[in-house]
Amino acid sequence: MSVESTVRPVTTARLAEMKREGEKISMITSYDYSMAKIVDAAGIDIILVGDSAANVMAGYETTLPITLDMMIYHGRAVTRAVNRSFVVVDMPFGTYQGNPQVALASAIRVMKETEADAVKMEGGEEILDSIRLILSAGIPVMGHLGLTPQSIHKFGTYGVRAKGDAEAEKLVRDAHLLADAGCFAIVLEKIPADLATRVSREVEVPVIGIGAGNGTDGQVLVVHDMLGMNKGFSPKFLRRYADLHTIMTEAVQHYIADVKSGDFPNDQEHY
Ligand code: KIV
Repeated sequence: MSVESTVRPVTTARLAEMKREGEKISMITSYDYSMAKIVDAAGIDIILVGDSAANVMAGYETTLPITLDMMIYHGRAVTRAVNRSFVVVDMPFGTYQGNPQVALASAIRVMKETEADAVKMEGGEEILDSIRLILSAGIPVMGHLGLTPQSIHKFGTYGVRAKGDAEAEKLVRDAHLLADAGCFAIVLEKIPADLATRVSREVEVPVIGIGAGNGTDGQVLVVHDMLGMNKGFSPKFLRRYADLHTIMTEAVQHYIADVKSGDFPNDQEHY
């Protein structure tokens, strides 16, 4: 089903309404025009231009190397494709931690140069001053707690977060701080399902989970993972909806064989 003819753009108000009405929110990443065009027309509620672009588009081991210029390039390509979805762009590592004025300048660049609807930032109390300043400029902020990949060198692993009481209580406190400050939504990544359900019930804003069970207000996946383009990544929480790795490999092998055999192009495939 295409939704292009019945466009009702998704807004922060609509996302809040979806939570109130118990309608689950669908969110997926995209980093380029062609993919964003497909997922927007398919009816996705939120497109995240994630800094996972560092991994799936640029081939880096972690999300740390991606720059603000690179995120703006990806964000701009995505917003050009979108009719209905709400577009969130990740603030990359080093552009908001520590200095609220730097954070505000980074967020303003993202909003001006990509025409996205919002930014996403990893962390709780530690970055609250930056979040408050960005919100005061009228820029919607999505929070991100639990496994925050920009802190991988602090955690040491990409394992499940907040399994112990102290970290779980800090996460709950941070979620309340983000919601009370005015974040319009919060992503919870790779935490126990019971904890994610508790946070989703306690805070008024929509909570979107990834590897956080079914009790959140919505779900997010990296598009390359859910389409099966990335064979080597198989965490427990990932459901693959296609096997594009096999489909694409076979298509390219078929093309190679046709070129080698002289079968392509045929009489109808030239001018
Ligand atoms: O960058 C990203 O793709 C993300 C999602 C995993 C939530 O932050």
